Amino acid sequence: MSDETSTEAAPQQRWTAVDRYITDLLVPEVQALDAAIAASAAAGLPPIAVTPNQGKLLGLLARVQGARTILELGTLGGYSTIWLARALPAGGRLVTLEAQAEYAEIARANIAHAGLAETVELRVGPALQTLPQLVNEGAGPFDLIFIDADKKNNPGYFDWSLKLSRPGTLIITDNVIRDGAILDPDADDPTLGNEGIRGIRRFFEKLAAERRVSATAIQTVGSKGYDGFALILVGDEE
Ligand code: SAH
Ligand code: DHB
Ligand code: MG
Repeated sequence: MSDETSTEAAPQQRWTAVDRYITDLLVPEVQALDAAIAASAAAGLPPIAVTPNQGKLLGLLARVQGARTILELGTLGGYSTIWLARALPAGGRLVTLEAQAEYAEIARANIAHAGLAETVELRVGPALQTLPQLVNEGAGPFDLIFIDADKKNNPGYFDWSLKLSRPGTLIITDNVIRDGAILDPDADDPTLGNEGIRGIRRFFEKLAAERRVSATAIQTVGSKGYDGFALILVGDEE
């Protein structure tokens, strides 16, 4: 047994080693996905994309959902975008929203390299500006929505997502646990700050109060540490 896989190893090392074990066995290498991560790193983007086994989960959920239309908030280099878009049937469409023009440029190249330029529409700008545009254009409803942008705005993103949903829409929200920091309204997060934590908490409170959705959240560990995601089904009044 190597140091990394020993039960004596530090938790983060073991979580990373187990993610590697799962990914080696169950997540086949796809050149366009590996290339997206490599190009994002080379361009200096932060290494915060979903992990390969999480990306595969997004793709599996999109297929279980039978999603033909997907909306993503927070593109970064397009890694999760490519996982989700690859899960669409022929003729499916994905709209992804990104605030940073420099990130969007990298994402566009990665998406084109994956052969998905015709499937994916990338809109540049703060999502609280591009979401109302989508509503005005009658762009919805989407079958699946992945919320993964700036966490301080999660409450607003949830409201706009509902406007772009139908009964049966699946909303997935990333990064809702943050090392357990969400228990403390005054907690700081190394990258999201206290505003991020407060945004996640207000998002949970909205889920609790919203009768049009049924939701849960799951804590996860892995190569990105201890975090989690929320799953929200629109349309069944509880
Ligand atoms: N979904 C990506 C990771 C996204 S990281 C993946 O898993 O591969 C979060 C992204 O949200 C970053 O690219 C960041 O620039 C973007 N973002 C931050 N604030 C935003 C805003 N107001 N509107 C849209 N995107 C935003
Ligand atoms: C951050 C954002 C993410 O979407 C993520 O999965 C991990 C970290 C961040 O902004 O630090
Ligand atoms: Mg995320």
